[in-house]
Amino acid sequence: MASNWTPDGWKAKEARHLPVYGDVEQLGAVETTLAKFPPLVFAGEARELKKDLAEVAAGRGFLLQGGDCAESFAEFHPDNIRDTFRVLLQMAVVLTFAGKQPVVKVGRMAGQFAKPRSAPTETIGGVELPSYLGDIINGVEFDAETRRNDPERMVKAYAQSASTLNLLRAFASGGYANLRQVHQWTLEHINRSPWGERFSQMADRIGEALDFMAACGVNPSTVPQLQGTNFYTSHEALLLPYEQALTRRDSLTGDWYDCSAHMLWIGDRTRFEGSAHVEFLRGVGNPIGMKCGPSLEPDALIRMLDTLNPAREPGRMTLIARFGHDKVEAGLPKLVRAVKAEGHPVVWSCDPMHGNVIKSDSGFKTRPFDRILSEVRGFFAVHRAEGTHAGGVHVEMTGQDVTECTGGAIAITDEALKDRYHTHCDPRLNGAQSIELAFEMADLLNLEMSEGRREAA
Ligand code: PEP
Ligand code: CO
Repeated sequence: MASNWTPDGWKAKEARHLPVYGDVEQLGAVETTLAKFPPLVFAGEARELKKDLAEVAAGRGFLLQGGDCAESFAEFHPDNIRDTFRVLLQMAVVLTFAGKQPVVKVGRMAGQFAKPRSAPTETIGGVELPSYLGDIINGVEFDAETRRNDPERMVKAYAQSASTLNLLRAFASGGYANLRQVHQWTLEHINRSPWGERFSQMADRIGEALDFMAACGVNPSTVPQLQGTNFYTSHEALLLPYEQALTRRDSLTGDWYDCSAHMLWIGDRTRFEGSAHVEFLRGVGNPIGMKCGPSLEPDALIRMLDTLNPAREPGRMTLIARFGHDKVEAGLPKLVRAVKAEGHPVVWSCDPMHGNVIKSDSGFKTRPFDRILSEVRGFFAVHRAEGTHAGGVHVEMTGQDVTECTGGAIAITDEALKDRYHTHCDPRLNGAQSIELAFEMADLLNLEMSEGRREAA
């Protein structure tokens, strides 16, 4: 357990991107309420995820992390949760079957509400108001009352997270994720993409493999891995009053865990030395992610790893590279080398979203699919060259048929962005684009394995 650590020790450190609340008493009352609510996840589950990630860090497996940029109160609907869950399942099946890797599935779901923003205010038509900071803090509509930071929103976000998690648990273990259902996971709009057809062929082959196993005397209904799946949750641990209120001491080990999600990550804007966010996450036992952008130097990264994982526990740290398609091959190798030379066990994951945002000619914030793919390819190329494992991907995606990122096999044009642009924050891959990306990554994983074997031979 971390030394000299208390759940509120972060308050003595520099906290960037935290909201200022006008009514401090109301904030205190909400914190007291949340501290009495049940934990959303259990410490034992966080430890299970850490074990799975330790396997990935050792080169055996792949981390698939995905979901909304920001969950919202308005888009809260069981169908949306189901559709995102099933696209993640489809991606995982592609990576497992075509990429031949066990896949650790982690949603950016059931708690991904708070957002760091590049500017504290936004001006529209000469009116300046505070920026939207995520539904857990204020509202997206552009009026002064909605943009006011309201602590009560934390209680609503907790309730939404609890019911989202409840549904996800039911989907993961209640029969929906049974591999016999693989054909049923495909959403109608995905079938319009050539990758939908490829998925359907793969589903046929999985069905045949299950029939073959049954004919050999293996009864699939007695194999838990075929009946359901492990599905974990994660979000950026940005809103520290909320995270602190959900931090509990595990009765089995006596260690502290942030029970708002299985995995928490530190954003690119809050990972500096002396940061309140780093101080907070240092003391909780969950698996931790850290975004690594172009401004991160190798020495600073190693100091951060020494702070967050002094015992060098495998599975504790996932480093999420988010450089941009044109920067990853120049910027990532020095970090990979430093981590390898120090012997820190980490999962290297690729976020091909946050370094690839552009403003389209039609004025929408978008991410061209080509650039996303190009960053993923660059990430895999760096790891092949360094002899390390490209261990995961971190994507903003949804099961809905949105038009937020341009390109892909059903080419979304700049003009089409306005049709179904629903995100509250950053543009997400739609279902078809997500499946396409999964097939591309499966090929890259095969390449890594065949080159690795060549090296070993
Ligand atoms: C995010 O993941 O939504 C995010 C804000 O990313 P980053 O910290 O990498 O900018
Ligand atoms: Co985002």
